Amino acid sequence: MLVSIRKLRLPEDASLVLSLNTSFTTSKTYQIESRADGFSLNEVNDYITKTYSFDLQSDEFHASNCCAMVAENGMTIIGVCSVEFQHWNRRAILHHLYVDVDHRGIGAGKLLLDASVVWAAESGARCLWVETQNINHSAIQFYTRHGFQLCGCDTSLYDPDTVLAGETALYFSLSLPYLPQQLGAIL
Ligand SMILES: CC(C)(COP(=O)(O)OP(=O)(O)OC[C@H]1O[C@@H](n2cnc3c(N)ncnc32)[C@H](O)[C@@H]1OP(=O)(O)O)[C@@H](O)C(=O)NCCC(=O)NCCS
Repeated sequence: MLVSIRKLRLPEDASLVLSLNTSFTTSKTYQIESRADGFSLNEVNDYITKTYSFDLQSDEFHASNCCAMVAENGMTIIGVCSVEFQHWNRRAILHHLYVDVDHRGIGAGKLLLDASVVWAAESGARCLWVETQNINHSAIQFYTRHGFQLCGCDTSLYDPDTVLAGETALYFSLSLPYLPQQLGAIL
């Protein structure tokens, strides 16, 4: 069955989107090694399970400078994403990208990412930026495989009482092409 992408429709899609299983299990993670002049990532063996939660009431799914999309396999919603365009720095933020655990590896994540890239580029963004965690080995593989580059680490962002031991925020960025229609809008 072909996977297709369309805009999220609320409230119609809410129950299917909220029933997506966003969890991942991994046996490999990245350990952050902090140094005086920076940090490095070292792949280590570690067994971890984590589930992402999200709020469909939040601005990320509603605001006029945001775009939320779903991936469908036939009539079934199998994934969701939301991207925001920030005017002040012309950066787009990929806030959410989840494919249901039973439908991974068939290209839905890539299609949602591609649609986010197109929307961000058409909005005038110079890059697409995403926050993930050092423990999410598969997401890091996924983003770097699609051209994202590591652009930061914040060892103090998460309250250690609310995340897994050693969980640290990592940031990745994808440079976006300069679109001819932007040139047209400026000239
Ligand atoms: C990350 C995620 C969105 C990828 O979605 P997906 O539908 O499984 O990915 P796709 O099937 O589109 O894969 C696209 C490409 O990424 C590669 N890829 C996907 N998962 C990968 C993994 N774990 N390791 C290495 N490569 C991977 C695929 O091989 C494929 O490569 P190709 O295009 O060269 O063939 C999905 O695993 C997921 O929802 N994870 C849980 C939620 C999550 O972590 N979200 C990100 C939060 S920041």
